[in-house]
Amino acid sequence: MSTAAISSDLPKLDIRPMTGALGCEIFGVDLANMDQPTFDAVYQAFLDYSVVVFRDQELEAESFAEFGKRFGKLEEEPFVPNKTDTPGVYYFKGAGGTKKLSSQNLGWHMDHSYQKNPSLGAMLYALDVPETGGDTLFASHYLSYEYLSEPMKEFLADKIGIHDVLHYGIESGHFAISSAEALERLTAMRKSFPQVEHPLICTHPETGRKMLYINKGWTTAIKDLHPRESKAILDMLKEHSLQDRFQCRVRWYNKSVLLWDNRCVQHSPNVDYEDPRIMLRIALHSDWIPA
Ligand SMILES: [Fe+2]
Repeated sequence: MSTAAISSDLPKLDIRPMTGALGCEIFGVDLANMDQPTFDAVYQAFLDYSVVVFRDQELEAESFAEFGKRFGKLEEEPFVPNKTDTPGVYYFKGAGGTKKLSSQNLGWHMDHSYQKNPSLGAMLYALDVPETGGDTLFASHYLSYEYLSEPMKEFLADKIGIHDVLHYGIESGHFAISSAEALERLTAMRKSFPQVEHPLICTHPETGRKMLYINKGWTTAIKDLHPRESKAILDMLKEHSLQDRFQCRVRWYNKSVLLWDNRCVQHSPNVDYEDPRIMLRIALHSDWIPA
């Protein structure tokens, strides 16, 4: 992993912020051919903006993996079935929805927060996507923390969140959970990944910024509180954390690359498209235990 220690020494990139909250597009870089100083500047933007988009990139699975490896180890994706021939790179197929009901709406979540070591980040490369629809939405854990009242920050300072893979969908809005088969699959996943505990207030290991570390999908309880208390506070925090002013929204075009810092955002794939789409996906491994 490369960290840019002195950001003022880095090459100046064409960075265009997406919203006042988070996210940027970076123009003028070729991800398949990038020298180390340029990568260091990209890495700094990744830390500064949490969500980074590149347009018109010419990549194959192999060169996409090479870009991913500059961030560290690529993660195995036990629940993403479509491996490419390149280790760590998966096909990510969205089937789209119907006008009335989607089977693919994953809702708001962080990738792998039900693990002791949630992913560092993820990257997607659009191979063939519908002209419109399927935007990916993000919400900042930093702002979500900063906009809490001081008494609430104090109350949450020593509280622990329970993350449970079984609630994938029930909490997030994944409509496919209604089938018995999906429930069986989730129950099997939970055997591999028992509940984990992460503090509700964490500090990002690289930026040093504090975060409200929850997500709508898998944070299911607050340790040691009565269930009624836990539910009331978590419901409030989940609603608080997804305010419009904490968000950005990424529109997809073929050959776009999206990269996000999974440690400090929730994301939600919007399913407002009909036609199939296909992307390449990489999950970036992290040894960080949220703290
Ligand atoms: Fe995800």
